[in-house]
This record gives sequence, C-alpha cells and structure tokens, in this order.
Amino acid sequence: MLSQVGNQGAESIGAAPIGVFDSGLGGLTVVREIAAAMPAESIVYLGDSARVPYGIKSLETVRKFAIEDARFLMGFGPKLIVAACNTASAAAIDSLESLCPVDVVDVIRPGADEALARTAGTIAVIGTEATISSGAYERAIAAIDPQREVRSVACPLLVPIVEEGRHKDDPIVLHVLGDYLRDLQRLRPGALILGCTHYPLLTDAIAKLMGPDVIIVDSARATARRVRDLLRQRQQAGDGTGGLRCFTTDNPRRFAELGRRFAGRAIDSVQHVATDELETYHRQAANGQ
Ligand code: DGL
Repeated sequence: MLSQVGNQGAESIGAAPIGVFDSGLGGLTVVREIAAAMPAESIVYLGDSARVPYGIKSLETVRKFAIEDARFLMGFGPKLIVAACNTASAAAIDSLESLCPVDVVDVIRPGADEALARTAGTIAVIGTEATISSGAYERAIAAIDPQREVRSVACPLLVPIVEEGRHKDDPIVLHVLGDYLRDLQRLRPGALILGCTHYPLLTDAIAKLMGPDVIIVDSARATARRVRDLLRQRQQAGDGTGGLRCFTTDNPRRFAELGRRFAGRAIDSVQHVATDELETYHRQAANGQ
C-alpha cells in the first residue's frame, strides 16, 4: 500500500492520480475546481470525517492527522498531493513537504498570492480558529509583501452551519455572517480571502454583505489553478477520462449524500478506511519506512 511514484517516467506519471485530503467534506470544493479546470485528471480523495473538525484542535494534533492522511494517499502512487484543508495546510505544510516524495500543494499560498495580485489594499482573511491563530496567511502574504496590512477573523460557527446544509439565505446564516463580518465591513478591505474549504458555499451571502468593492478570493479556485500550472510545468498533465474515488474515515453513505453539495456532482465511489489504519501509516512515517 505504501508504493510511491518513484522512478516512473513523465508519461506514466501523467496517468497517476492527484491525491487530495481534507478533514471531511470541505475539500470537495477544491475537487470541484480541480475537476472543472482539469477534467482529464483522476482524483483520489480522503475525507477524515471521523475526526472533523480540525479547525478547533491544536496545531500539533492537526499536523499528526495531516501526515496520516497524506501517507494514506501516497499508497495510490499520486503525482501530486493537495492539502485541501486550510487548517491542515496551516499546521502541516512544512512537515508534508519534507515527508512526501511528490509535490504538495496547500490551499493557503494560492489564495494569498491571488489576493496580492488582485488588490493593492488591505487583505482580510476569514477561517477556522486554528488557521487564524496559526498566522499562516499573514506569513504567506508577508513573504511577498511585508508591508501589506492583513486583518484576520476566526469564524468557528460557519463550518457546522455549512455542514448542516443551511442555505445561504437562511436568516441564521445571515445573522452569524453579519456578526463575524461587522468589523471587516467597516474596514473596507481590497480583498477578502475565504480561508476555509467550507466558505465557498457561502460566497454569495459573504459577497453581498461585503459589498461590490471587495474582491472575494476563493482559495479552492486559486488552488486548482496552482495544481494545473504545476502539472503543466512538469509535463505531468493527465489525458484520461477523469474520475473521483473517495475514502472516508466515517460513514460512506452520509459522505456521499452530503458530499454532493460540496463537489457539485454525485459521488458514486466512497469506501471506508478506519482511522486506526491511518495511524499505522503515521507510525511508518515516523519510523522512516
Ligand atoms: N477543512 C477545514 C478548513 O479548511 C474546515 C473544517 C474543519 O474545521 O475541519 O480549515
């Protein structure tokens, strides 16, 4: 199961899947954008739904989970891994890059880069508690423009609200959003980064509250573009018929039912993998196997 891409030639690497993981369903918003931008790519997705949410856990715990998730995906010989979770990206990108023998794309730098490219003004970021307290967006922005003003707001209630299937026009959604965004509305930033995989489902409501002058940066879309550019650069783009194979650490039926809203399409193939099995991969990684 731990076979890796190894010494395959560029041609066979092109046929290899893209491995994508998230704490649960949210990363399917990234899958949706990857599939739209690169329909020929096949994707293997792991949603760690048994341990969601990552966003309220310590960065050490999230790092351990993210390494387990990535090691699991390495078993499918991917040509690239996408950490399609802002919290996992914030906590573990350095560890993932040093552990994985293939490129790892996170969801933070693409969103930060896009915001910097599209506005000269203040950049606002909303995300989970762990992502915001990690300062990962501030670091990603400062690495390119150290003078840029960044304002971040944690919005912990938004993940459960989206998971619950609340509609963007639901009064509860609008009330909670109004409360979280109040200071940012006054600030009038040039751009607002949706720094959590769940937030693209609330884009319309967020855009309406922030007004037409604020550019909304969807990090899922920016990440898909980064993946496309990287594969083209490395001449590893696929030319197959695409396809999505999903694994979840929780209930596959619930994953398929709820996941279609995030993926924007039906999810046909979902298998269960126990977290105990993921932990085995983590121990192997720690022992350098
Ligand atoms: N996927 C997480 C993120 O993008 C949100 C859900 C969670 O807290 O696990 O930060």
